[in-house]
Amino acid sequence: MAITVEPCKPEDLESLGKVWSVTYNNGEPFERNPDKPRLSEDFIAKSDGVAVGGFGVSPMSATRGEAEFQCAGVLAVAVMPHVRGGGVGGKMMRFGIREYFDRGYELASLYAFKESFYRAFGYETTGLRYKISVDMNVFPRVKATLRIRQLDASSVDLIQDCYRSFAHKRSGLNLRHDHQWNRILPPDSKRTIYAAGDPIEAYAIFQHKVEFWQDQEVVEFVWTTKPGYDSILSVIAGTGINKKNAVWVEPSDSPFRTRYWDHDANVVGLTPQLMFRVLNVKKGLEGLKPVHSGSFTIQISDEVVPENNGPWRVTFSPSGVTVEPAETAGFTMDIRQFTQAFMGEPSLANLVMNDLVEIRDMEQVREAEKLLTPSPTICFEMF
Ligand SMILES: CC(C)(COP(=O)(O)OP(=O)(O)OC[C@H]1O[C@@H](n2cnc3c(N)ncnc32)[C@H](O)[C@@H]1OP(=O)(O)O)[C@@H](O)C(=O)NCCC(=O)NCCS
Repeated sequence: MAITVEPCKPEDLESLGKVWSVTYNNGEPFERNPDKPRLSEDFIAKSDGVAVGGFGVSPMSATRGEAEFQCAGVLAVAVMPHVRGGGVGGKMMRFGIREYFDRGYELASLYAFKESFYRAFGYETTGLRYKISVDMNVFPRVKATLRIRQLDASSVDLIQDCYRSFAHKRSGLNLRHDHQWNRILPPDSKRTIYAAGDPIEAYAIFQHKVEFWQDQEVVEFVWTTKPGYDSILSVIAGTGINKKNAVWVEPSDSPFRTRYWDHDANVVGLTPQLMFRVLNVKKGLEGLKPVHSGSFTIQISDEVVPENNGPWRVTFSPSGVTVEPAETAGFTMDIRQFTQAFMGEPSLANLVMNDLVEIRDMEQVREAEKLLTPSPTICFEMF
């Protein structure tokens, strides 16, 4: 069968809706609210002109320390049940990678139902989301040292600087535009923000629940300082006073794990973990914001985007990064492990430690470690 993949035209939306209906909507008709702003672009796969698959891409960004990259958030991947296993999904994945490479995106990301499917196209799980669950009976008794303000969803502007600063200390976080903030804080959601300090040094977003003895989930907890973190912990203690557990998510640098382990926290790595893929190695490396200076040669092994392979000579300093073709390379990385090192978790040093890099010249790897430094990687959006 002749399979084509293309951006979905308005007249194709109904047939794409049938693919999504049987995959994601229990067979119920797929309907789109025309009043809701569109956060993603649709793509459709056809076999001899008939819709057999589709997916969406949400334009996002991803931090890497001070750097910020365009990231294609892949979602709603679906193939009609009777044609699964026939190559449609693979064709869609390759199309998406090529399309967003051509559009100038450095990264793509997605949450996988099964990582092995996406790994085949160069995606890899990157970073860690810790789910922290603490029994309220043994919750730390921490006093707020900063003034706490209670804000509603309309005050989103006040917390954006805090989020931005949190995001730029780590990797993978989406620097949200207004529509994306509306997903975290829908104007009609009755979600409440508690913000510590002025300017704000930490905040937590709650959807208050009235039921006693249930878990109190924190929608989002973000901090930039220790007094800010502890002040928000005191808010969690207050909101959870008649609850069973308080539950929230932290990146792997988790202050709770570091400082309050004795409070019987249940800390688990959440599944699914976001998978990233570097779409464009040269553009990605050139977008980094190094602290140190150095130079190394690297080769990449990328079957889907051979332009990424190099070998490359990478020269970096605090004033920028240049990537030029080279004759040979000091080491070779598969695009999946390169993506992990690029984001920073697991770091290049950790990958080397576990024999996941093909090394010819260790000096070159040590130079690269000064650019591809370890960085906790997390994304708070679910898509
Ligand atoms: C996942 C899905 C989109 C894959 O599409 P598909 O057309 O069946 O996939 P393909 O036939 O192109 O398979 C491509 C490769 O992935 C492998 N693969 C397919 N489904 C897989 C699975 N569930 N687990 C692991 N590998 C899988 C195939 O073996 C194939 O590898 P090969 O070429 O080496 O044989 C499709 O099965 C589907 O719609 N599933 C239900 C919805 C879903 O789970 N969507 C993903 C949400 S994140």
